Amino acid sequence: MSTFQAPKGTYDLLPPDSAVYLAVREAIAAPARRAGYGYTETPGFEKVELFSRGVGESTDVVTKEMYTLTTRGGDELALRPEGTVSVLRAALQANLHKSGNLPVKLWYSGSYYRYERPQAGRYRHFSQVGAEAIGAEDPALDAELIILAADAYSALGLTGVRLLINSLGDRECRPAYRAALQDYLRGLDLDEETRRRIEINPLRVLDDKRESVQKQLADAPLIRDHLCEPCRLYDEQVRAMLTGAGVNFTDDPRLVRGLDYYTRTTFEFVHDGLGSQSAVGGGGRYDGLSEMIGGPSLPSVGWALGVDRTVLALRAEGIELVLPPTTDIYAVPLGDQAREVLFGAVTALRRAGVAADFAFGGKGMKNAMKSADRSGARFALVAGERDLAEGVVQLKDLATGEQGPVAVDEIVVTVKERLA
Ligand code: HAM
Repeated sequence: MSTFQAPKGTYDLLPPDSAVYLAVREAIAAPARRAGYGYTETPGFEKVELFSRGVGESTDVVTKEMYTLTTRGGDELALRPEGTVSVLRAALQANLHKSGNLPVKLWYSGSYYRYERPQAGRYRHFSQVGAEAIGAEDPALDAELIILAADAYSALGLTGVRLLINSLGDRECRPAYRAALQDYLRGLDLDEETRRRIEINPLRVLDDKRESVQKQLADAPLIRDHLCEPCRLYDEQVRAMLTGAGVNFTDDPRLVRGLDYYTRTTFEFVHDGLGSQSAVGGGGRYDGLSEMIGGPSLPSVGWALGVDRTVLALRAEGIELVLPPTTDIYAVPLGDQAREVLFGAVTALRRAGVAADFAFGGKGMKNAMKSADRSGARFALVAGERDLAEGVVQLKDLATGEQGPVAVDEIVVTVKERLA
């Protein structure tokens, strides 16, 4: 029997690459954590209905991309395709919005699942870090989130990330725009499925990637020209604050995003080194989502940044993150007595906070020293019978090759000193 492979559209994270992913997750989350966002975790699955109502019945995410299952108890569940709806559901369920301290600011990190056609940068299992600010309508909050994301990319050293922004209007001005867009789209030469889409979700047609469609959209009405005064002012203030913070952006009047809950501010971070899956992150305001899933009116805004694509962006720019070594010191015992002494030393070092590893499996000296080098450790701790007879072990600097004796009962103190 051949060995099992990971399911199509997925990949495994293993050392050393996995260390980069961890570092990217941390770097993306750090600015949000510094801005008062609290960590949240929700289940990997939810009721299907939560997503169909929240993300939208007519979106690709709900109609084509959800992994659904029926439990033995008869519940219809879906693996989460995104995080916003679940996080809002959790906040509502715990009544966080009634704490009298709005907005409720939450951040999260985890796995998401979409049954998409796999290609470079597009997977069926992927990883996002997200942030949501629930229960406040304030352009400064939209600006805050966008600045935090921009700062996260800069902190990683990325220079090729561009920010696209748009406003999708609100329940006052969107309906008239929608009708105007429908009028325009009905006059075009489009296939059956796209014609149906005009009636259900015309804004999504603007997002059609096919050139034959895009060509016909050149003169389509733009939401920007239909915004009501409050939406226009709101948008202006968000932009002014971004400019004030030195965050560059480009207007993208066609940016509609793939999820139905957006109102007003929407944005996407794209990287030109990634081919067709260029969005490294995205988000926006979702003032009506809470009501759509049975909650009170809670205007909110958030984003999710794709960890997989951020790692691809780093590679595209040739950026190597400087990661601390996972092992500081590596123990190489020669003989049984040395095994006992050095195993004890490694345990003591670890308890003292030093990252230490040990040559397991009874390796010979040459092999063990190779492992020590590969571990990235600065020092090796080597001991044979003759050393132990003198009550010492040898501490070897793996960069310079210098080596000297250390008394067995002074190993922890000496190693900590040398590492400091
Ligand atoms: P989204 O644009 O669907 O938004 O996903 C956010 C990011 O997740 C994308 O920009 C991309 O980097 C990554 N991503 C999405 N699908 C895939 C995939 N199949 N493979 C690899 N990476 C992927 C949301 O999910 C919203 N919940 C964002 C949000 C938060 N809006 C408001 N709050």
